[in-house]
Amino acid sequence: MKLLVTGGAGFIGSNFIHYILKKYPDYEIANLDVLTYAGNLENLTDLEGNPRYSFVKGNITDYDLVEKLVSKVDMIVHFAAESHVDRSILDSRDFVGTNIVGTHALLEAAKKNDNKRFHHISTDEVFGSLSLTDPAFSEKTPYDPRSPYSASKAGSDHLVRAYFHTYGLPVTISNCSNNYGPYHFPEKLIPLSITNLIQGKKITLYGDGMHVRDWLYVEDHCSAIDAIIHNGVIGDTYCIGGNTEKTNKEVAYKILELLGKGEESIEFIDDRRGHDRRYAIDFSKLKGELGWEPSVGFEEGLLKTIQWYKDNEKWWKNIVSGEYRDYYKNHYEN
Ligand code: NAD
Ligand code: TYD
Repeated sequence: MKLLVTGGAGFIGSNFIHYILKKYPDYEIANLDVLTYAGNLENLTDLEGNPRYSFVKGNITDYDLVEKLVSKVDMIVHFAAESHVDRSILDSRDFVGTNIVGTHALLEAAKKNDNKRFHHISTDEVFGSLSLTDPAFSEKTPYDPRSPYSASKAGSDHLVRAYFHTYGLPVTISNCSNNYGPYHFPEKLIPLSITNLIQGKKITLYGDGMHVRDWLYVEDHCSAIDAIIHNGVIGDTYCIGGNTEKTNKEVAYKILELLGKGEESIEFIDDRRGHDRRYAIDFSKLKGELGWEPSVGFEEGLLKTIQWYKDNEKWWKNIVSGEYRDYYKNHYEN
């Protein structure tokens, strides 16, 4: 089995590549990634020279390149995206380009290459925002995106479904809640909080800190995708969640406790514009049909994550200093 993974130098994509190559000794992966600020080849250093892994630096919006790469594989697993809500609020141009046009290029390539199997990674944010008493999002929840990021992901989901209904493209979609774990870029809440505290800085909480997210350890997201790409029903969507609804304040206090810090290390700052109040996922379809459920509890996952950031200071300090951006030049050019 040959997979084309897009965005494999990012957080979840790199965890997925590690997961698949370890679990399936006869699988091969080509990783297509343009290396935006979020793409980091230091996530994949252990795979250098591995004959089952190859890296292509390129943009998913490059229709010709994408078509060539898709012709050589059996399946596309599509992670590449602009993924940070705060950045989309400042400037959403690349969000539309990558998340919508890039997904279109991949769908076209899959269609032109005998309808290749296509799995699209999406987010729970396409469903909008819940009140504290609303039932959790499920596959039946109507779309109601509210940030430029979630709107662009919603657009990509609609295109993927349209290619199934119009052309019979064998697609599946997964909408997952917030992930955390190793290789998470330190601009998102959990890795930013951990690395700030290690550096003697503070955790910054937006608004009243009472916004709720449902957290999933990244390896559990990988196992869910594994189940869907192998056993999912073609044309179907699966919601993936962690059964771990927490306010941001609860997350912050847990990280403080695990790092032995006090509440003076929290700073409340201005709220995010249009900040979604609560996300929660009902993953009973995935559990009932494919037998998947999360295996790592929140405290266990946070402990592993904190340990990983302590053991891999060089990894995140290279991000803070910008040095990680030289990796491609030093290892792939010349
Ligand atoms: P990330 O930002 O860490 O990584 C994105 C990767 O895509 C980077 O390596 C980047 O270089 C690459 N990329 C961006 N634009 C590209 C382009 N035009 N061409 C080729 N490569 C490009 O993102 P992530 O957190 O790993 O998220 C991966 C996917 O999972 C995204 O589709 C995201 O919407 C989805 N998702 C993320 C979460 C989460 O909590 N992080 C939750 C649910 C769904
Ligand atoms: P984030 O990790 O950016 O993920 P998303 O916006 O995709 O859910 O944010 C998670 C939650 O944490 C969200 O409610 C915004 C909040 N947040 C803070 O309070 N402070 C921060 O410094 C960051 C980055 C996020």
